[in-house]
Amino acid sequence: MSKIEINNVYKIFGPKPNQVLEMVKAGSGKDEILEKTGHTVGLDNVSLKIEEGETFVCMGLSGSGKSTLIRHLNRLIDPTDGEILVEGTNVMSLNKEKLIEFRRHKMSMVFQRFGLFPHKTVLQNVGYGLEMQGIDPEKRNSVAMEKIEAVGLSGFENQYPNQLSGGMQQRVGLARALATDTDIMLMDEAFSALDPLIRSDMQKQLLDLQAQLKKTIVFITHDLDESLRLGDHIGILNAGKLVQVGTPVEIVMNPADDYVEAFVKDVNRAKVLKAKIIMKNANEVNGIDKNNLIKVGEDQFIEEFLPQVVCTNANCEVVDKQGNIKGYITNKELQKSLTRS
Ligand SMILES: Nc1ncnc2c1ncn2[C@@H]1O[C@H](COP(=O)(O)OP(=O)(O)OP(=O)(O)O)[C@@H](O)[C@H]1O
Ligand SMILES: [Mg+2]
Repeated sequence: MSKIEINNVYKIFGPKPNQVLEMVKAGSGKDEILEKTGHTVGLDNVSLKIEEGETFVCMGLSGSGKSTLIRHLNRLIDPTDGEILVEGTNVMSLNKEKLIEFRRHKMSMVFQRFGLFPHKTVLQNVGYGLEMQGIDPEKRNSVAMEKIEAVGLSGFENQYPNQLSGGMQQRVGLARALATDTDIMLMDEAFSALDPLIRSDMQKQLLDLQAQLKKTIVFITHDLDESLRLGDHIGILNAGKLVQVGTPVEIVMNPADDYVEAFVKDVNRAKVLKAKIIMKNANEVNGIDKNNLIKVGEDQFIEEFLPQVVCTNANCEVVDKQGNIKGYITNKELQKSLTRS
């Protein structure tokens, strides 16, 4: 069973969504629907599975439906049609009490526009989820302080959100989500307001957290490098349609259409591709010059050995951790892998 399963979800915004739904199902696109009916297509037949312990990144242009999608998962938005299963439970079947329980204990969310309480201090904001879970003040404050420290805001715990910069407010939202320690974290542009250094540091922290705790994370971003760094899988939305889901390598190597291509065209492939992805077996590289070989690890990224290969005009012998030969990369193939076909 997948941790999260989304089946044929449609979301139409406007006064008569159900009437418009039929047109959307019959194939009318977002622009046509808006023009003819004044309704906005938020999601158009989205189906998706997210596995336990993975980071699923959602990308797409502004207005493509990313926030709409993530908000269906904790039912901040109800679908016009389709179903959303979390650990096998249909979220639409939850009554009011169950839904409150579910939001408190199953999922935490970092909101795109922070969503902090203006009249609560940083400490109270960060501790809010714990307060709702009924955790006593002493424990709550100590966990909250720990998270405040983790996001680099020690000393600001008694200030109010409007005394903080945008990036600092975003970090408060992040600390709040981390504090509740839920299995599932929904992160809507969680790092977008941060400067590059802090952003990179937060990405690292999230990767470390993931390595230890294996949360299920749904992460929205506009930033391709961020999505490649964080995502186990990446889903790309265009005008409410999910146009491609794949691993970072699949997305970079085989973009499904021009829209995805536009996202990945400037990516530095040497940062994304590992030796094992492009290596060939001994037969395929028949006649390779074995007198000029460089040993590279199968999990090394191309950028790590590219300079050496280029300088010496060598071929690569790819080995695993024990030193067993797994394959070869010719100099020519290596150069080819870095350019788009
Ligand atoms: N409450 C709403 N009422 C009407 N239309 C809405 C509402 N929320 C979203 N939409 C529409 O749904 C579409 C998707 O919006 P959404 O906020 O999901 O985009 P997004 O991909 O998160 O964009 P951004 O990157 O700018 O945050 C947009 O066309 C938007 O106009
Ligand atoms: Mg959004």
